[in-house]
Amino acid sequence: MLNTCRVAIFASGAGTNALALMKAYQDFYSVEPLLITDNPGSPICKEGILIPFVNKEEHEATLLRILFENKTDWILLAGYMRILSAKFISTFSSWHKNANQILNIHPSLLPKYKGKDAYRQAWESKDSHTGVSVHRVTESIDSGDILVQIPFLIRREIGLEQFISESKKIENDLYMQVLRRIFQEEIATTKFQEGVSFAAPG
Ligand code: GRF
Repeated sequence: MLNTCRVAIFASGAGTNALALMKAYQDFYSVEPLLITDNPGSPICKEGILIPFVNKEEHEATLLRILFENKTDWILLAGYMRILSAKFISTFSSWHKNANQILNIHPSLLPKYKGKDAYRQAWESKDSHTGVSVHRVTESIDSGDILVQIPFLIRREIGLEQFISESKKIENDLYMQVLRRIFQEEIATTKFQEGVSFAAPG
C-alpha cells in the first residue's frame, strides 16, 4: 500500500460523492484530504475550503497553488461543475511526470450522455439501463479514458427522483472503491515529484 497518497476532492453540489471519498480516505490515513468547493451554497463548505469563482484564470491559479503546496498526487472531481482548462491539466500532470491523475465520476455509460442531467437523458430516452463511469479527465468534457463502468437497470416504477437518489449510492460506492484501488496500488500512482517547479508549462 502507498505510504501516503495526497488526494484533492473538488465538488460543487450536494457532495454525496465527496463525502463518500472523504470516508474512504480516512479509512486509510489520518491526514485529511484536501476538499475544495467553488459553491458557497454547497454543504461541502462546512468540511472543506471554499474558493469562490471570480474568473477562470484566477480560480485555476488559486487551485494550482493550493494543490502544489499540498504536494497533491490525485484530483478526484465529484460533481465539480467547471471544466478544467488544458493548461490546468498539463500543469498538474507536469508535477507527476505527465501522468494523468485527475478523475471524474459521470452518471452514464460513457460515451453516452455526456454533460449535464445524464440520468434524465437516459430516462427520457426510454433506455432500459444506464450506469456510472469513472474516467480520466481531459480538456474535452467527459471524454478521457474510462477506468471503470458499471451498468444497472432503470427502475421506472420508483420514479426519476428516487432513481437518481438510489443511483447516487451506487456512484458513492464505486468512487470509494476506485480510491481504495489507488491506495492499494491496483491503479498506478506517480507521486508528486519533489523539486518540480510551480511554473505552468509553456
Ligand atoms: C453525480 O451524479 C456525479 O456523477 C456527477 O455530478 C453528481 C454529483 O453529485 N458528476 P454529488 O454532489 O456527489 O451528490
